Amino acid sequence: MKNLKPIVYGMAFLAAAGLTQCKGHEEKPATETTAKMDSVSITKSSFGKTAKGEAIDSYKLKNAKGMEVDVITYGGIITHLLAPDKDGKLADVVTGFNDIAQYEKPNPYFGALIGRYGNRIGKGKFTIDGQSYQLPTNDGPNALHGGPEGFHRVVWTAEEAKGGDVASLKLKYVAKDGEQGYPGNLTVFVTYTLNNANELSVVYEATTDKATIVNLTQHTYFNLTGDFNQTILDHEVVIDANEIVPVDATLIPTGKLEKVDGTAFDFRQAKKVGKDIEAKEDQLIKGKGYDHCWVLNNQGRGVRFAASAYDAKSGRLLEVFTDQPGIQFYTGNFLDGTLPQRNGGTYGHRTGFCLETQHYPDGPNQANFPNTVLKPGETYQTQTQFKFSVK
Ligand code: BGC
Repeated sequence: MKNLKPIVYGMAFLAAAGLTQCKGHEEKPATETTAKMDSVSITKSSFGKTAKGEAIDSYKLKNAKGMEVDVITYGGIITHLLAPDKDGKLADVVTGFNDIAQYEKPNPYFGALIGRYGNRIGKGKFTIDGQSYQLPTNDGPNALHGGPEGFHRVVWTAEEAKGGDVASLKLKYVAKDGEQGYPGNLTVFVTYTLNNANELSVVYEATTDKATIVNLTQHTYFNLTGDFNQTILDHEVVIDANEIVPVDATLIPTGKLEKVDGTAFDFRQAKKVGKDIEAKEDQLIKGKGYDHCWVLNNQGRGVRFAASAYDAKSGRLLEVFTDQPGIQFYTGNFLDGTLPQRNGGTYGHRTGFCLETQHYPDGPNQANFPNTVLKPGETYQTQTQFKFSVK
């Protein structure tokens, strides 16, 4: 697989922290346990059972500053993320539900790990080495986010790890040859690590026994106000990209890249999400707002700044760093007030945004896009960091 970069920051980050295995998922009792780890902690509790009777666990990673990230073994979903505002007040800045039953109902991938292939594949078809594959189509004529039973709906095994000042959770899932239409048994590891600098890193690794396609990402919806009754339109966003991947009416890339200069898609300088979102531009009309992959600058240079979002009222700043070539900025255009918030009310139109670091949509069918084929003997390794601060 070309375009694979060694894990520079993430592994150094973990090694420097002297991460060692703490407790295996299988060996732990079902009751709540807390492993105190210097200034960070990991707490495990039960998140109930799926309709099929699978036990789901929830892990709370907490750092010395009080920042918390909760992850469940169903879909590797981030269910809560508490980040401080400029007065040090913590608020939950991600969408989430109270129970597993709600996560099992159809929802737009709240907080979930996405795979085997993030975003769309045109007509669900692709070819590797002359062999054609047909995926289930679950988004009009196209395949979206790994299929109806993608990685967002499977149960991952979890292993906690501890280090001096980081708390880490390593999730594992083995997708079978033919699962959701994809070839090859794919072994996937995703490690969430929280440190005391309020950085959450997500490291993805995968290996296969047959040539396949891989594009993993994280689908958390953020609202830095911490108030999901407010839209995200006042957030000031920066995206370090000179181009986007334009799409057709079914949100499949046309194959060309388009300069952001002079368009609503220019976020090279901080701009409020709402400033141009209603502009009468063809791409905005097709996406019903922003729902596009930006072609990140500085490709091939390892982990670098990709994007940021800032809420002036709370002072919360989220910065995203990645080694990936693209970032899907999605402004919650399909949130429609039907899904329940945790504390009453519903998630309305554009009350959350996603910054999904990834390869470009439909990569397997676009000769000019970076390669997304993973072959036996290769290791897929990528990483993304979400850094929270205030200004
Ligand atoms: C896609 C949107 C989709 C959303 C899931 C995003 O990654 O780009 O088109 O609606 O995920 O609901």
